[in-house]
Amino acid sequence: MDKERRVRLFDKQADMYDRRRGDSSQERFRRGLLSHAEGDVLELAVGAGANFPYYPSGVRVTAADFSGMMLEKAKAAAGRYNIDVSFLQADIDELQFPEHGFDTVISTLSLCSYVNPQQVVAKMKRWCKPGGQILLMELGISSNGVLAALQKTLNPLLYRLHGCHHTRNMEELVKGAGLHIVHMERHWLKMLYLIHARPSG
Ligand SMILES: C[S@@+](CC[C@H](N)C(=O)[O-])C[C@H]1O[C@@H](n2cnc3c(N)ncnc32)[C@H](O)[C@@H]1O
Repeated sequence: MDKERRVRLFDKQADMYDRRRGDSSQERFRRGLLSHAEGDVLELAVGAGANFPYYPSGVRVTAADFSGMMLEKAKAAAGRYNIDVSFLQADIDELQFPEHGFDTVISTLSLCSYVNPQQVVAKMKRWCKPGGQILLMELGISSNGVLAALQKTLNPLLYRLHGCHHTRNMEELVKGAGLHIVHMERHWLKMLYLIHARPSG
């Protein structure tokens, strides 16, 4: 799928993501993950700002996404939750930042959508300060064989509808980039990965 089509697909979902902010099925996961955020934070693929209700006070957030409609919703939400956010409309697959600029790098439900997720995780490591942290909440392949087979069968259809591949192994992506996993939990029949990682052990 080309980039324009992917952007349009996410633009169309912006209203839904805006309505679902604070969704109770994700609340405890987001709250737990975001409680670790500190300092200068980079949030990749911020969407409509689903994490904004959970940011601790005092963080300074740089938030990027390539969907203008998602960013519009996120900007309005940042005002409502009184968060200090600088927004950037950009394709994360092409985005560049100086090395070691952020205390915390966050991605939620987004590694499924990049053309080159391994490269994006490598960038997260590069952009994070050596003593910083990388916080992920991602949907990926289940460790349940039956479910994983179903995810693979449905993937072409779901990718066309939602722009996400839910067949990626998030643990392998993170380890493949040389990140050190401090803590990992799996939920929702092992499809949801919550990962707290650091650039080195
Ligand atoms: C499934 S939504 C998740 C949004 C948000 N992170 C959340 O937790 O609700 C995926 C988001 O990734 C963005 N996205 C997908 N691919 C992207 C890319 N290559 N560059 C920038 N943003 C991208 C979409 O516009 C969308 O906002």
